[in-house]
Amino acid sequence: MTRILPVAGPSDPAIAEAAALLRAGGLVAFPTETVYGLGADGLNPAAVARIYAAKGRPATNPVILHVADAASAQALVSRWSPAAQELAERFWPGPLTLVLPASGTVPSIVRAGGPSVALRCPAHPVALALIRATGRPLAAPSANRSQHLSPTLAQHVASSLGEAVDLILDGGPTEAGLESTILDLSSDRPCVLRPGPIPPADLEVLVGPVDLWAGAVRAGDRQAAPGMAERHYAPRARLQLVAPGSGLRETLRETPGSVAYVALGTLPPLPPGVRGILLPLDADMVGARLYALLHELDDAGCERIFMERPPEDEAWLAVRDRLRRASAKEQP
Ligand code: TXA
Ligand code: MG
Repeated sequence: MTRILPVAGPSDPAIAEAAALLRAGGLVAFPTETVYGLGADGLNPAAVARIYAAKGRPATNPVILHVADAASAQALVSRWSPAAQELAERFWPGPLTLVLPASGTVPSIVRAGGPSVALRCPAHPVALALIRATGRPLAAPSANRSQHLSPTLAQHVASSLGEAVDLILDGGPTEAGLESTILDLSSDRPCVLRPGPIPPADLEVLVGPVDLWAGAVRAGDRQAAPGMAERHYAPRARLQLVAPGSGLRETLRETPGSVAYVALGTLPPLPPGVRGILLPLDADMVGARLYALLHELDDAGCERIFMERPPEDEAWLAVRDRLRRASAKEQP
């Protein structure tokens, strides 16, 4: 049985126990303000290798190092730019990951052999206390099997990774529910590699124009975004985005098996047998709820999920990105 320890706050004794496990090369899942992370000592290549094995993660996909403050981040990069300084001052601790040129301290396996390292200072008090107690940067991808949904509850970690984790710290549901915004500062112009809770416009106020990486990764595409496989964050059920109105009822009626419809703002009348779920027309609230909902529908044996296509404005950028990936066709 995987051990799950409830952790009430930053001074909970479970944190010292978890830190000891991490210093000994173990794997500890912990809550952050975005999703649960699968942590290991980020300066211990053998411990980081266990992360890749537990997740079934390709060796080409680097991991984020989590630090307690900007000073610790500076020790891990070869050049800490004024932009990095301004962004860290404004958004750390918080859901912003910065990609910067790595210093010689960062093990190759963390970088997946590349020249840069991704750094983030998480805002969750348990995560910060754990990093400080361990005294090392913590390598931590989302605590799920590769290509599966990210965990927003300790229980999601247990059912996805099971015995592969030495300990799960249970801090309750995560707040943002979607993974951090990733900003690449390692090349000429800043580029958002993954949209997240911090929208590009908030970054542009500080660092000027920011590119938005187009997403669809094909062989030979920008290699700065190695983990951005098109189908990612995916539920077991087949997810399809639809416009409400014309033809929806017929589509739902004609779909065999166990079917759910997720509406935004108002629930339209649905054919009998279709499970209707109403989410508010609020991007942050949908972001916070989305993965937990998809986990629940998977657990309930739902085979087909139809979801109302969210609005096109920037507030919905991260939700649209995750939905696009979750509804992408399985790659051969
Ligand atoms: O909110 C988050 O960021 C969560 C929590 C646990 O902190 N972590 C997370 O990690 O989502 P992960 O590994 O699931 O996603 C990190 C993404 C991957 O797509 C990876 O390819 C990318 O960051 N990444 C990591 N290092 C990179 C680097 N040096 N250059 C470009 N992308 C990098
Ligand atoms: Mg992930």
